[in-house]
Amino acid sequence: MVDLGPHGPVGHNWWTPPPFLHASRPRPARAPVRKPHSMTQTITVIRGDGIGPEIMDATLYVLDALKVGLAYEEADAGLVALEKHGDLLPQATLDSIRKNGVALKSPLTTPVGEGFSSINVALRRHFDLYANVRPAKSFPNTKSRFPDGVDLITVRENTEGAYIGEGQSISEDGETALLTQKITRKGSERIVRYAYELARKTGRKKVTIVHKANILKTTSGLFLKVAREVAAQYPEIQTNEMIVDNTCMQLVMRPEQFDIIVTTNLFGDIISDLCAGLVGGLGLAPGANIGADAAIFEAVHGSAPDIAGKGVANPCALLLGAAQMLDHLGQPEKAERLRAAIIATLEAKDSLTPDLGGEGTTMSFAKAIASRV
Ligand code: NAI
Ligand code: MG
Repeated sequence: MVDLGPHGPVGHNWWTPPPFLHASRPRPARAPVRKPHSMTQTITVIRGDGIGPEIMDATLYVLDALKVGLAYEEADAGLVALEKHGDLLPQATLDSIRKNGVALKSPLTTPVGEGFSSINVALRRHFDLYANVRPAKSFPNTKSRFPDGVDLITVRENTEGAYIGEGQSISEDGETALLTQKITRKGSERIVRYAYELARKTGRKKVTIVHKANILKTTSGLFLKVAREVAAQYPEIQTNEMIVDNTCMQLVMRPEQFDIIVTTNLFGDIISDLCAGLVGGLGLAPGANIGADAAIFEAVHGSAPDIAGKGVANPCALLLGAAQMLDHLGQPEKAERLRAAIIATLEAKDSLTPDLGGEGTTMSFAKAIASRV
């Protein structure tokens, strides 16, 4: 077997960068820190690739209008970083996130089926961002199948399970592929506890534990066992258990029965895209990656190469990710104003992007939102 390693055949191990990439080269100059208003906190900004830079420009424009008082420190990751610094995830980027503790990140392209492994996954693992929190809420004037009925949060384990691609290998003859799926008590315990604590904090009433323990008896079985133990400590919150395939059908037929969903990494990845589809598409679905020492806020969607550079990407998913960030930074009032401005702009059908049936551009939509904050 050929071990593909954490970054697949052409990647390299970013947490121990080969010395030749760094020793002779000066540290990449950091972008000047923008201080739009009184400096209370610096965040790391990763502009990403594909539609990433377009939606980040739009998002920072709205945040400036909201006067959030943040300073932005730009850092590179993924394809852009590889081109500029010869490294998919430069040490300077890791240092910036570690120092600031909070990053706002645009999507990063990951080659399909070959090439380097996901830098998103690498970032989540490096900073142990174990909780991936993805709200899906119906908004007005979107192509939602359930205009009023969806208001749920997927809490996805973010650091283990099949999704991280551990132990990927392929036989010399290319006929057999292997992958290790590791679930731990610690990983399961903390994500389920996060979900129940989130329910308590937000006044939500019900947690649905999603698993496949009938078939994956060891891995999903351990997750379910630990989840039941944690659930027992929250008697005031209703607990429901559901097998993942049935969950997909139930989400499509009766999404209103869900409040908070907690699940393992790969199931959470798939379910949260499904939930995004319920509320009118990926353009409205944000996600937070939260750990004990750092947090990265982003859109659920990817770099959308099919519309990149056209100025038509919907900035709302990243904006809603920024709203999650403001909550995290202790600015819930600004977060609410931002969400209210997005809702008001959707209600007015003002400059909506084509994915929402409008003829607006990324920037005209952002300006319409900014005018309402
Ligand atoms: P995608 O999410 O980039 O696009 C799926 C579909 O949704 C496309 O038709 C796209 O045009 C549309 N879409 C996505 N975001 C939109 C927006 N803001 N406004 C309007 N339409 C939007 O998923 P895809 O095509 O599977 O992946 C493309 C690349 O993105 C891949 O390299 C993938 O690995 C990467 N990716 C990165 C993520 C991240 O950085 N967190 C997450 C998901 C994918
Ligand atoms: Mg995904």
